[in-house]
Amino acid sequence: MGFFDDKQDWLNEVFAQYPDRRAALMPMLRRVQQDEGWISPERQEEIARILGTTATEVAGVMSFYSYYQALPTGKYHLQVCATLSCAIGGADELWDELVETLGILRGEVTPDGLFSIQKVECLGSCHTAPVIQVNDEPYVECVTKARLHALLQGLREGKKLEEIALPGKVGHEVHVRGEEVGA
Ligand code: FES
Repeated sequence: MGFFDDKQDWLNEVFAQYPDRRAALMPMLRRVQQDEGWISPERQEEIARILGTTATEVAGVMSFYSYYQALPTGKYHLQVCATLSCAIGGADELWDELVETLGILRGEVTPDGLFSIQKVECLGSCHTAPVIQVNDEPYVECVTKARLHALLQGLREGKKLEEIALPGKVGHEVHVRGEEVGA
C-alpha cells in the first residue's frame, strides 16, 4: 500500500494551494519524514509518480535539506554540526564519542531503535558552538562530552529535551576541543 493511498483529502488540500502540483513536493516530503522518520526509495518513487516527475528529481531536492533523511533513523536522530565554528569547538571529538558510545555509524540505528547520527552543515548557531540538534527540536548548545552523555541518558529515560538537565551553562561560552575555557 502506498503512503498516500489513504491521504487523498490531504493531498487535494495541498494541491489546491499551488498552480502547479509539482510545487507540492516539499509538503509531501515533510509529511513522509514526519510520519515515517525517513523517506525510503519506495516513497521517493511514489511521490515522483504522483507529481509526474522523476525519483531522481525528488532525491535531488532532498539532498539540499538535512531534515530529509534518505536512510532509516532512530527515534532520536542526532545531528552534529561539523562546520567551522563547531569543528574548532570540538565537533569531531563529540562525533567520535557518539560513535564509540552508541556503536553505530551514519546510516545505522542502535539495536534498541533509539538513536541514529549524522554530521550536518552549519546549523546557524555558531556563537554557541558546538551544536547538536535532536530531530527538529531546539538546538543543544555549547556541547561538551559531559553534556552529550547527560543528553543521551535523558533521552534513554524517555525525557523530553527541555526536561533534561545538562551540566554547565548555556550561552556565549567559549569551548575549545569540547572543554569550557571561559564565559
Ligand atoms: S558552525 Fe556549527 S552552528 Fe555554525
